[in-house]
Amino acid sequence: MSEHEVSNRPASSIILLLSGPNLNLLGEREPDVYGTDTLEDHVAVATATAQQHGLVLEHQQSNLEGTLIDLIQQARGRCAGIIINPGAFSHYSWAIHDALAVFEGPVVELHLSNPNAREPWRHISVVSPVATGTIVGFGGHGYELAVQAVARQLSS
Ligand code: DQA
Repeated sequence: MSEHEVSNRPASSIILLLSGPNLNLLGEREPDVYGTDTLEDHVAVATATAQQHGLVLEHQQSNLEGTLIDLIQQARGRCAGIIINPGAFSHYSWAIHDALAVFEGPVVELHLSNPNAREPWRHISVVSPVATGTIVGFGGHGYELAVQAVARQLSS
């Protein structure tokens, strides 16, 4: 690249993976729905996938809406992209919606299960309108797909 060419690649190589309420219980929580892998297992897959793309994965889990909002705000200007499984907050947290709307990079909404195939109250996601894209229903494989999606967005 010459000195006058501008790279589209953001200065930061950090992908922030956020896990919402009750995801700390993966492995023991409704294994028929969410599988037997733990959150740590999923984070390991996401970390390895990020490394393959020259990216760094940071993970935070919280059961608290305000903590997730603080983490999203702190990612502005610091992280290149966000992957978020907001758990049940997906279905009613307009505050998480508003926080993500201000983030400048790609946002992937991730769900292990397919909420659209479950109870009607799970069919609405208030996060989806501010996500670049959504990955649902692929269980743990979704973590790999989500990192690949962010990497592709960042290199395009
Ligand atoms: C979930 C789906 C949500 O409806 C639920 O409240 C969760 C997990 C998923 O990953 O499938 O906590 O986000």
